[in-house]
Amino acid sequence: MASSFKKCISLLSQQSLSIQRNRTLATVAKKYVYTKHFADQPKPTDLRLVEEQLPPLKDGDILVEAEYLSVDPYMRVYTLRLPLGSTMIGGQVAKILESKNPDYPVGKRIVGYMGWRSHTVLNPNLPPPKEQFSIEKPYLLPDIGELSPSLGLGVLGMTGNTAYFGLMDVCKPKAGETLVISGAAGAVGSHVGQIAKIHGLKTIGIAGSDSKCKWLVDELSFDNAINYKKQNVAAALKEAAADGIDCYFDNVGGDISTAVIYQMRHFGRVSICGSICSYNDAQLPKTRILQPAFVFKQLRMEGFVVSRWNDRWFEGIERNMQWIREGKLKYKETVTEGFENMFRAFHGMMKGENFGKAVVKV
Ligand SMILES: NC(=O)c1ccc[n+]([C@@H]2O[C@H](COP(=O)([O-])OP(=O)(O)OC[C@H]3O[C@@H](n4cnc5c(N)ncnc54)[C@H](OP(=O)(O)O)[C@@H]3O)[C@@H](O)[C@H]2O)c1
Repeated sequence: MASSFKKCISLLSQQSLSIQRNRTLATVAKKYVYTKHFADQPKPTDLRLVEEQLPPLKDGDILVEAEYLSVDPYMRVYTLRLPLGSTMIGGQVAKILESKNPDYPVGKRIVGYMGWRSHTVLNPNLPPPKEQFSIEKPYLLPDIGELSPSLGLGVLGMTGNTAYFGLMDVCKPKAGETLVISGAAGAVGSHVGQIAKIHGLKTIGIAGSDSKCKWLVDELSFDNAINYKKQNVAAALKEAAADGIDCYFDNVGGDISTAVIYQMRHFGRVSICGSICSYNDAQLPKTRILQPAFVFKQLRMEGFVVSRWNDRWFEGIERNMQWIREGKLKYKETVTEGFENMFRAFHGMMKGENFGKAVVKV
C-alpha cells in the first residue's frame, strides 16, 4: 500500500515537472532573425538564432509549437524586401499547446506563416501583422487521416495548390497535348507532371540530375525527362516533343525557358510559376528575345501567385487528397531533422538537393 502510494506521488510529481517544463519552454520561443541581406548564395551568418519571451495569451489567442517548417525558393527573393532584424519568413505546421480561442482547441494543428520560429502566440482570427509575409490566413490542418501533417506544407498545402491551380487554371490543359515542366523534380514540378498525366497529357520534365530524371520517369510516369546539367535542352526537346509543345509550366526561367518557348506549337500556353535560375543573381541574366515566338506562334503567357485562389484553397487540398487516396498522385519529401538545421535545409533546397518537397522536422 505504502509503496503504491509512493509510486503515485512520484508519478504525479514527474507529471507536474513535465508540465512546468513545457510551460517554461513554451513561453520562450527560438526564432531566426534576418540580420544581413542575402547576396549571391545565402550564408548561415545572414541569420541569427535568438530567444524571444512570449506574451501571455489574451482572449482569442493560441500558443502553438512548430512541428514541421517549410523551406521554399520564395524566401530567397521576398527577404530582400524585409527590414534587417525581421523574423525569417516561412510557413509551418504547428500544434496548439494552449488556447483562448474556442475555434482552435488544444491538440489540433494549424498551418500558418509564423516564420522560422519554434513557438508563437497569435490570434488566428486577426489579419497577420503587416511585416509578416503570408499567403493565406492561418487555418486548422484539415483531417488528413494517417498521412503525415508535414503534407500540409507540400502536396496538401501551398505547393500542392500551386501545382493544381497553376496548371489547371492557367494552362487549361487538354488530353493528348504535350506539357513541359522545368524544375520538374521539385515540390511543385513533380506534382504538376502527375496532374497532367491524370488528365491524359504527354509530360516531359526538365531537372538537374540523372537520378531525378529516373525518378520522374520510373516512379511518377513522366513520358520523358531531360537533365539540363548534362544535355542540350533544345536538342533533347526536339526528340522528346517532335510535334512541338502545347503547354509549358515554368519554375525556372532563363535559357531553359527560351529553349522550350521556341519549340511551342500555335496557341501554346505558358504558366509562369517562378524563375529560380535567377534568384541568387544580383544581375538578371541576359537571354534571347522571346517576342517572335509569341507573335508568330500566337502564344499566351500568364504569371500567377497562388494566393489568387485563396477562396478555393480547400478545393485544391481536397482534390489532391482524393488523387493520393486513389493512388494517382505520389509525393516525396526531403526531410531535414532539427530546428537548428533550418538554414542547411533552405540552402540545400536552393542547390537542388531535394526530391519533391523540402521540409524541416523540429
Ligand atoms: N507563383 C507562386 O505562387 C509560387 C508558389 C510556390 C512556388 N513557386 C515557384 O515555383 C518554383 C519551384 O518551387 P518549389 O517550392 O517547388 O521548389 P523546388 O522545385 O522543390 O526546389 C527548388 C529546385 O529548383 C531547382 N533549381 C535551383 N537552381 C536552379 C537553376 N539555376 N536552374 C534550374 N533549376 C534550379 C533545383 O532542382 P534541380 O536539381 O532540378 O536543379 C531545386 O531542387 C520556384 O520558382 C518558386 O519560386 C511559385
